[in-house]
Amino acid sequence: MRRDAVLVTGATGNVGRQVVSGLREMGVPVRALTRNPDMAGLPDDVTVVRGDLDDPQSVSAALTDVTAVFLLWPSFSPEGAVPLVEQIAAHACRIVYLSALQAADGPETGWGAVERLIEESGVAWTFLRCGGFAANTLGWAERIREEGVVRAPFANAARSLIHEKDIAEVAVRALTGDGHAGETYSLTGPEVVTQADQARLIGEVIGRPVRFEEQPLPEARAEMLPIFGDAALVDAALAYWGSLVTEPEPVTTTVAQVTGRPARTFREWAEDHAADFR
Ligand SMILES: NC(=O)c1ccc[n+]([C@@H]2O[C@H](COP(=O)([O-])OP(=O)(O)OC[C@H]3O[C@@H](n4cnc5c(N)ncnc54)[C@H](OP(=O)(O)O)[C@@H]3O)[C@@H](O)[C@H]2O)c1
Repeated sequence: MRRDAVLVTGATGNVGRQVVSGLREMGVPVRALTRNPDMAGLPDDVTVVRGDLDDPQSVSAALTDVTAVFLLWPSFSPEGAVPLVEQIAAHACRIVYLSALQAADGPETGWGAVERLIEESGVAWTFLRCGGFAANTLGWAERIREEGVVRAPFANAARSLIHEKDIAEVAVRALTGDGHAGETYSLTGPEVVTQADQARLIGEVIGRPVRFEEQPLPEARAEMLPIFGDAALVDAALAYWGSLVTEPEPVTTTVAQVTGRPARTFREWAEDHAADFR
């Protein structure tokens, strides 16, 4: 019997790569979307398809005989997602969308707006509203490797960062199992860890001390601007991180409820990525 494939967007990214791996382990045929198939580095039994989410026409070939789609939307603005979601809904029965906790603030956030589009498309959906990814700390890797230092603002910002494998395990269940349609899952790591402690834990895992150095806000802002491309987004991110010094991020138990095992700790994440920091 032929099994319909699952299309994984963002298949070369932190989460998508793990989704591909989880689907392969279950024997589900995987189609992986990327803008650069030559650079994808995915296993041979994965059908890699060239496509750009900003150009829905380029995604249409990838959707033939696809039953479910793991969807990320790569931009902060929802503009451009309308034709893509329409296109997916015309082919697939199910979308599992990689959203963010901020979607709870409504459609004025990009994630909330994309959720609304998906709801209105008529396709069965599951929203994975994630807190911050532990993988964001890979941005510290170069300075840790070279100087043994993390230089960032708000040493005491307390975060419940999540391992990409936990998001992917929930995604694979939602893509392949019953009972997830119409569910909005708020996903975080299992504990709150301050940024200073994240640096310390990375140091313990790599066997070399890592020092957290409080970075002045203007310097952080200047470093973030070219990455975020929008001063208002930078200021919002800095204000949010600042707020976490006195109001730590929430911790949910949804990963455990959906997968049957607790979410991985930040230390476990650092162990999985030790090579990046050595
Ligand atoms: N970081 C966080 O803390 C956080 C929290 C909540 C939600 N999120 C959401 O998570 C998503 C990022 O996930 P990630 O960290 O797994 O990804 P990532 O490691 O940042 O990689 C980005 C992925 O998106 C793909 N991509 C980017 N632009 C594309 C385009 N125009 N067309 C096709 N593919 C495109 C890239 O594929 P190619 O380069 O191979 O084409 C790559 O696979 C974002 O949508 C973000 O909003 C992030």
